[in-house]
Amino acid sequence: MARQVLLLLAALAVCSGLEIRRPALGFNTWNAFYRDINETLVQQQANLMVSLGLRDVGFEYLVLDDCWAEKERPADGRLVGNKRTFPSGMKAMGEYIKGRGLKFGIYSDAGSLTCAKYPGSLGYEKEDADTFASWGVDYLKYDNCHARRDYWILDRYAAMRDALNATGRPIVYSLCQWGVMEAHLWGPKMGHSWRTTEDIRPTWDSVLKTLDYNVGLSRFAGSDVGWLDLDMLYVGNDTGLRLGEQRAHFALWSLYKSPLMIGHDLRDFPKQSLSILLSKEVIAVNQDDLGVPGDLIWRQGHKRIYAGPLAGGARAVVLANFQFAHPTAFQQCPRTNITVFWGQIGLQPGQRARVRDLYEERDLGEFVDSFTGSVEAHNVLALRVTPLNGPLDDGWRPWHGQPAYAAQAANVAVQRYEDWVPKSAPWRCMKAGGGDTVFQQPDPAKQPGCGGKDR
Ligand code: GLA
Repeated sequence: MARQVLLLLAALAVCSGLEIRRPALGFNTWNAFYRDINETLVQQQANLMVSLGLRDVGFEYLVLDDCWAEKERPADGRLVGNKRTFPSGMKAMGEYIKGRGLKFGIYSDAGSLTCAKYPGSLGYEKEDADTFASWGVDYLKYDNCHARRDYWILDRYAAMRDALNATGRPIVYSLCQWGVMEAHLWGPKMGHSWRTTEDIRPTWDSVLKTLDYNVGLSRFAGSDVGWLDLDMLYVGNDTGLRLGEQRAHFALWSLYKSPLMIGHDLRDFPKQSLSILLSKEVIAVNQDDLGVPGDLIWRQGHKRIYAGPLAGGARAVVLANFQFAHPTAFQQCPRTNITVFWGQIGLQPGQRARVRDLYEERDLGEFVDSFTGSVEAHNVLALRVTPLNGPLDDGWRPWHGQPAYAAQAANVAVQRYEDWVPKSAPWRCMKAGGGDTVFQQPDPAKQPGCGGKDR
């Protein structure tokens, strides 16, 4: 029983003393450079984050992804930077990054090896957390490769969470478990953000797939629990996505309040893509004080409306035209009209509201009851709708009134009895709640393996 209670408490311990009221913004080396990183390259990216103005609009973390370490863990168990590619060492690398007014992020893995087969932290959580803290690390991306099936994922991630907490250094804990095991149910108790999907690719299909995986998940995230991580950005990668597609990608990642991690070499950044990343008003949606992610609220064929509430009672609304990609379709139907009705975003009939185009930074006018925008194929109109009279209500949520997002408790109840879920899964020991609440009080009496005897 004692072990049971401890397990439960460990699973529920709120992640670190560090509160992250806003999603993390920064640059991550993986999508730009994959395995080929070194000290000079990282220094150049740090300098460019400053000179291109990215730091000033909020991109503050520079995260070294996989392949920064020596291939073998040294005999004393302490990780070291790769001596050939990072000759000055990781502490010095961090100091360089911080010297540019940025924050230092690093990568490890909850398995015996990282995905690229460098040493992982499984079994070395304490040593590695201490090492990272001693290097002044501010952010840890924690991957999920090379773990045996019988090492329960929650235990592996909790071990690093607890080790980071024990260092006393505030370190953002970014879970990279690719959305497996219903991460939205346990991520909030574990880290500051959790991946919801497999790796993004530089293609429009991958962007759409990522968006579709996330429908209905906004209710599980927010400034009090942490953030859905839709994976890194492919804005700037002019070989993969058209410009309109990059605008859609960035606006919707911002609306879902995903961490925004740039993934394109800053030495060679197309100007128009850079202007997307520097769109302050789109970033303001991501960093809004209310901290409630937006979600899909309507869809018909290729037209979609995504929306979320903002502090003070305004709404962020993204009108999206995701027409299929055949060149003839683009020619024949380059734009479409999409209408958002106030009733769909929790505003009152008769309420007057100002509509602003966030990429253009331009007011489009005052409207009553609805707004209709003309949206290019594979592009979006990113809007702020600010009520000018009537009640200013920031209590509206994207799932209110949407049958697709009806209470999830029943699903959780079913999941508790799926036999592939280990007995120690926290939701096995939870009462499924009604209404909005999924995690409620433990109900050991009713669940097999959740009370009475020790296992
Ligand atoms: C996994 C992660 C990626 C990246 C690579 C590094 O695939 O999901 O984001 O970190 O590993 O090897």
